Amino acid sequence: MDRNNSPTPPDAPPDAPLDPVAAATHADPYPFYASLRNGPPLAWNQKLRLWVASRAEVIEEVLQAHGALRVRPVAEPVPSAIAGSPAGEVFGHLVRMNDGTAHEAHRPALQRALAGLDLNAVREAALQVARQVPDQQPLSDTLFSMPVRSVAHLLGFADEALPQVDLWTRDFVACLSPLSTASQLQGASTAAGELMARFEGLVAGTPPRRGTLLAAVLAESAAPSRSLLANLVGLLSQTCDATAGLLGNSLIALLREPPLRTAARTRDGLQAIVEETARHDPSVHNTRRFVATPVTIAGTPLAAGDTVLVLLASANRDPSFNPDPDSFVLVRAKRRMLGFGRGTHACPGQALACTLAAAGLEALLQRAPDVDAQRLRGWHYRPSVAARVPVFH
Ligand code: HEM
Repeated sequence: MDRNNSPTPPDAPPDAPLDPVAAATHADPYPFYASLRNGPPLAWNQKLRLWVASRAEVIEEVLQAHGALRVRPVAEPVPSAIAGSPAGEVFGHLVRMNDGTAHEAHRPALQRALAGLDLNAVREAALQVARQVPDQQPLSDTLFSMPVRSVAHLLGFADEALPQVDLWTRDFVACLSPLSTASQLQGASTAAGELMARFEGLVAGTPPRRGTLLAAVLAESAAPSRSLLANLVGLLSQTCDATAGLLGNSLIALLREPPLRTAARTRDGLQAIVEETARHDPSVHNTRRFVATPVTIAGTPLAAGDTVLVLLASANRDPSFNPDPDSFVLVRAKRRMLGFGRGTHACPGQALACTLAAAGLEALLQRAPDVDAQRLRGWHYRPSVAARVPVFH
């Protein structure tokens, strides 16, 4: 493949996103993703200076090439803008941002603790927490508050602490975005320090509240350490934008598809809406892999230092992955999706996220049952390089 050649797909729609990163926040990026899938298995994008994977089978291959492809560039394990700050400390410990030993240190404990959650109890707790989120708060903030406060509650924070933990979490996630300003990065560092101190306090509580997610993580872990505390902060930050987006995009599915409103009257129906939304219009549109050692993927040789943009949202719409992929089908015989990743870094919070979003949707509909009014007011998407989180007008 000639790297100087950066073809615009010949069948790209006229109002296509500017590039595959901008697609995450475009009103309808899916025809553009389809045109990318018709191109080469790995397409060099000269503007972004990275390889783009858009087909499901290629994305699976990329996500499973663990040794050669890493979640961070070898030369920059922590973004230089936050290296040395409290936000950089947390970032540097996250299993999400590490391969090898630092990944293995906490991944199994987090995975087992999350897998052991009683999802019926989670739903009950999430509904209670959601009802305490103030009605006056804008809907677009409530999308964040409901799931983030629920996870904070599951981790063992007292009810009075939830609003502040919610704010700190939202401040902290700014350090994960290359779009953040210097003052947002400063806020992320302040929030990282506060969250670490609060988790230190919770962990020191003797014993941590039984039945909490915190107690489960500690039971699965060796002695508490700064890196474990950072990964507890990570459970909040991993929840934040991704679950807000899943909740918001599920609401949009309801606004767009009136027949779903009958399904939304039952718990199973709400869960089904959320799960098909996670495939059809997911909240995490892409992730990246960084080439550590030369490797050939889908017949394309990649050099050390190359970057691969992995279009998870495109994979979900690949007709070889899901039949009739552009239709919103509430009950699919075999739904397949890559929006929660695949392989060793796959999301351990998928079931929790879907339960939280379904509970959030139930609470939102109880508050504001007139979804047509919301449809008429419209929405756009928050600026982001990867997440699709609506802002309702
Ligand atoms: C709709 C909501 C969510 C989506 C779409 C989502 C998506 C993802 C994706 C795509 C990855 C893998 C990234 C990569 O391989 O580059 C990931 C990793 C992760 N997620 Fe989620 N996530 C969601 C919610 C959650 C929640 C609620 C939790 C826990 C409270 C969580 C915890 C994690 C953790 C700890 C990792 C890192 C796993 C590892 O690197 O081993 N996520 N998530």
